[in-house]
Amino acid sequence: MAKDKFKEQFAEAAAAAFKAAYPAVYMNTGDEQVFSEDFVYDNLEQPKDPKMGRFAFPVFRYTKLLGQKPPVIATRVATEIGGILNRNQGPVLVSPSAAGGFVNARVDFVSLAQGTLEDILTLESRYGGSDWGKGQHYLIEYSSPNVAKPFGIAHLRTTIIGNALRRIYKKLGFNVVGLNFLGDWGTQFGKMIVAFRKWGNPAMLEENAIENLHGLYVRFHEEVEQDPALDDQARLAFKELEDGGEAVKKLWQDFSDRSIKEFRRVYDKSGIEFDEWLSESMMNEEMDNIIARIEKDGLARLSDGALIVDLKDPLLPPCLLRKADGATLYSTRDIAGMVYRWNRWRFFESLYVVGSSQSDHFKQVFKVVEMMEVAEKLPPEERMSGRVKHIGFGWVKFGEKTFSTRRGRVVYLEDVIDKAAALVKDIIAEKNPDLPSIDETALMIGVGAVIFSQFSVRRQKDVNFDWDIVLNFDGETGPYLQYTHARLCSLLRNYDRRISSAIDYSLLDREEELRVIELLADFPAAVESAARNYEPFFIASHLLRLAATFNTFYQRKDGQGRIDRIISEDETLTAARIALVKAVQAVLKEGLYLLGIKAPEAM
Ligand code: ARG
Repeated sequence: MAKDKFKEQFAEAAAAAFKAAYPAVYMNTGDEQVFSEDFVYDNLEQPKDPKMGRFAFPVFRYTKLLGQKPPVIATRVATEIGGILNRNQGPVLVSPSAAGGFVNARVDFVSLAQGTLEDILTLESRYGGSDWGKGQHYLIEYSSPNVAKPFGIAHLRTTIIGNALRRIYKKLGFNVVGLNFLGDWGTQFGKMIVAFRKWGNPAMLEENAIENLHGLYVRFHEEVEQDPALDDQARLAFKELEDGGEAVKKLWQDFSDRSIKEFRRVYDKSGIEFDEWLSESMMNEEMDNIIARIEKDGLARLSDGALIVDLKDPLLPPCLLRKADGATLYSTRDIAGMVYRWNRWRFFESLYVVGSSQSDHFKQVFKVVEMMEVAEKLPPEERMSGRVKHIGFGWVKFGEKTFSTRRGRVVYLEDVIDKAAALVKDIIAEKNPDLPSIDETALMIGVGAVIFSQFSVRRQKDVNFDWDIVLNFDGETGPYLQYTHARLCSLLRNYDRRISSAIDYSLLDREEELRVIELLADFPAAVESAARNYEPFFIASHLLRLAATFNTFYQRKDGQGRIDRIISEDETLTAARIALVKAVQAVLKEGLYLLGIKAPEAM
């Protein structure tokens, strides 16, 4: 990973300080590791109050080892670090000091400003990237809607979180494969076929195929109440499909093609990308092999005619592989899919971004694979266990009031996006009626609002989607960030000159400017932590803080209550401030990009 050079300097000095201050203890503890540079680096915190400095290193854990109270240790180490820094040339860290059980350190403001801004201005969108994942495949499955079913709000979150994770992991150097795994197999297709034959007609597939097919499916469930024989017909139809019957296969293929066409339209509109499309039906060919392999591993047994795997875990029910009528299941297809992906990509990790309601399902299939690998005594490098992860998330709550739909109770994602764009268009028409390409911009902002709503809380929490909240240009929203970005672009347009390379960074000496520069410097860490926790929310909240802090600086008044302008008569001061503006603009744009949001230059 790209290391923060200030942190590195602190860690190096702290390790040396321990050695100098406590030579005897250091020699004898057998705990050298906690005195090492790496350890200090990894355990550096940020002081709660930024005025206390940029880093805080807690020393509580050394109480026993060193036989002293934390404040005593902190003072001793801080003094020692101070001496070491003074001996080194050109210190970028200054005035380490003890505060309770912490050693705090400030960084030299000019070095921080210069180092950070120069990095951003030269790297631009590459700032915050790294080559952590070089040469490794990283799989991320997301979206995975079901064919012939509405692409609704239920798939909103997986699509948006997965799309963001794909971009984040790419930034960290991985060969990312963003995977859409369509649900296009299972007994429901038997029902769909029966319903289509009874009540459908080809015209229904020409337009709004998904909506029409869904209508037929709903009707099937109503009619089956009166006529249970329909269920038997559906089972037969699915059996026919599994056995490769031409006529049913053709119908099913048509359902699938039409649905995919509609899915693509929604993805295009919202800027969602994939590298690979797979589907449950594509796993059919692997089905016999995988079942044979599990049987050979001695893991399967028959129970009432069905084939199951006991998971030897009191919290998990057995995993069903094949029903008594011979049909395979969702789990079987997922196990086959895991093996397929492992064989094809030998991934560093493989994520399944799927709602937390499926967490038992994933525990089951992961467990089966682990049992297979153990039974087969595979060497560690041949095992995918531990590399497959279920990335769960909570529900999206769509208040009844906030969305009424002409299409019944289902909330279609496309309708949400269209509505967002329409509402934004009204807002722009009022605020900035002369904006060229209003429709395009309104769509960018509408989509941005919908996407950002999914990052307003950590993924395990539920999201309450409320139009007034997600579209608030002054709230913690996508449009707020986009608006801030557009204002920065307009400042840069007004400046209308090349950004100077000889900047006097010491002029950026206001408290707000320091905060902004620190947030810019912390952007790479926010990206990394988003990746490590599979939590794009960390980037979202970092951007909100950056924008809010920048906006206080931007709106600052001078002693006489006049707006303190960024572009002023003072050329060198203006040049320095413009460099800061450019850096904030670049980081906002890149951060939004990582979340899947476009940053218009005017709005
Ligand atoms: N198609 C499923 C659904 O919509 C989600 C599939 C999740 N991915 C998987 N590999 N099981 O509920």
